[in-house]
Amino acid sequence: MKGPTGKQVAEVALVVISQVIFYFGLKYVLSSMDPARTKRKAAQKQSSTILEKLGIDTMPLTEYEQIILTEVIHSDDIDVTFKQIGGLDPIIDELKESVIYPLNYPELFTSASGLLGSPKGILLHGPPGCGKTMLAKALAKESGATFINLHMSTLLDKWFGESNRLVNAVFSLANKLQPCLIFIDEIDSFLRDRKSSDHEVTSMMKAEFMTLWDGLTTSEASRVIIVGATNRLFDIDPAIVRRMPKRFLVSPPDASQRQAILKLILKKVDLSKDFDWNELVRRTEGYSGSDLKELCRHAAMIPVREHMRTLSLHGGDIKTMKFDRSTPIHVRPLSMDDFNIAALDDSPQINLSQTLVELPSDDS
Ligand SMILES: Nc1ncnc2c1ncn2[C@@H]1O[C@H](COP(=O)(O)OP(=O)(O)OP(=O)(O)O)[C@@H](O)[C@H]1O
Ligand SMILES: [Mg+2]
Repeated sequence: MKGPTGKQVAEVALVVISQVIFYFGLKYVLSSMDPARTKRKAAQKQSSTILEKLGIDTMPLTEYEQIILTEVIHSDDIDVTFKQIGGLDPIIDELKESVIYPLNYPELFTSASGLLGSPKGILLHGPPGCGKTMLAKALAKESGATFINLHMSTLLDKWFGESNRLVNAVFSLANKLQPCLIFIDEIDSFLRDRKSSDHEVTSMMKAEFMTLWDGLTTSEASRVIIVGATNRLFDIDPAIVRRMPKRFLVSPPDASQRQAILKLILKKVDLSKDFDWNELVRRTEGYSGSDLKELCRHAAMIPVREHMRTLSLHGGDIKTMKFDRSTPIHVRPLSMDDFNIAALDDSPQINLSQTLVELPSDDS
């Protein structure tokens, strides 16, 4: 029998080569058409930098975990500490006891009964501007745990199926990086009450989230805690609220709390000799922490503005910022009058008492 001729071999080789080129060509075209490709590539690049910053040489991560890793914030990049929060000492102490100690000394919090250990969910709730986000940031800074600042936009990928995989990745990454805090700010917007009108993807994602969350609760050894913050407690799905047994009401500051906040904000500010703290505290009734900050900011601007005006009277030009810089800058101390003027155009935006909701603590 005659063997294949050289021409036949060449033809077969040509067919094989063309098939290989077609296969890789098609793969390349399909992958470049994938809209999530650039996002994945960016996440891949960023993830090695983040791991390095966390002091981890290498860690095998799936592409979904790499996307979630971009939400991890290193404690060095957080500039809030408990010391900067005024008037919330009892909450801070309890947060330390229920989060920081169990995360860092797990051996003290393990028991055969499974009754010890940290709660797997913590909810900070209360009216706007009273320090919930600030508390969570300080907790991240001081707990020494990895902090995942989870944004819903990251999970709500528009490609079907991705959301569930990303939710899975949140928990698997948190387990790999534990001790870990998963922070969900404005948790009401994501885990709100489920309705039949919900999009199928959203409801599947919520169900997945809750199942994985239950997994944390059943494993005492797990050092992963979900921290949520909201000012709309009753918009959250009751099933989610149940998973956050430790709840802290961050209420509007009372007189002594306002004093503590004002003293912190004005710590480095030069105040006039007749500055009356009690009067300022009395006048700021109904102000939230953020209202107080805004008030102080407005008041502090008044002497600066005055100073600028005197400079322009002496021949300087405010528009071109050309002044005689040889004379030392002297801005006069802040007085009560500045606060009176600032308060006129800076009254609190909301009626805090209306948004304040008391919820019985449920430690069961
Ligand atoms: N207890 C406080 N001590 C010091 N500063 C405070 C305090 N509460 C609020 N502030 C100031 O108000 C700002 C806003 O606070 P924060 O973002 O924590 O409010 P929030 O409770 O998360 O509000 P929201 O519900 O609107 O998200 C802070 O950046 C801080 O400057
Ligand atoms: Mg907030």
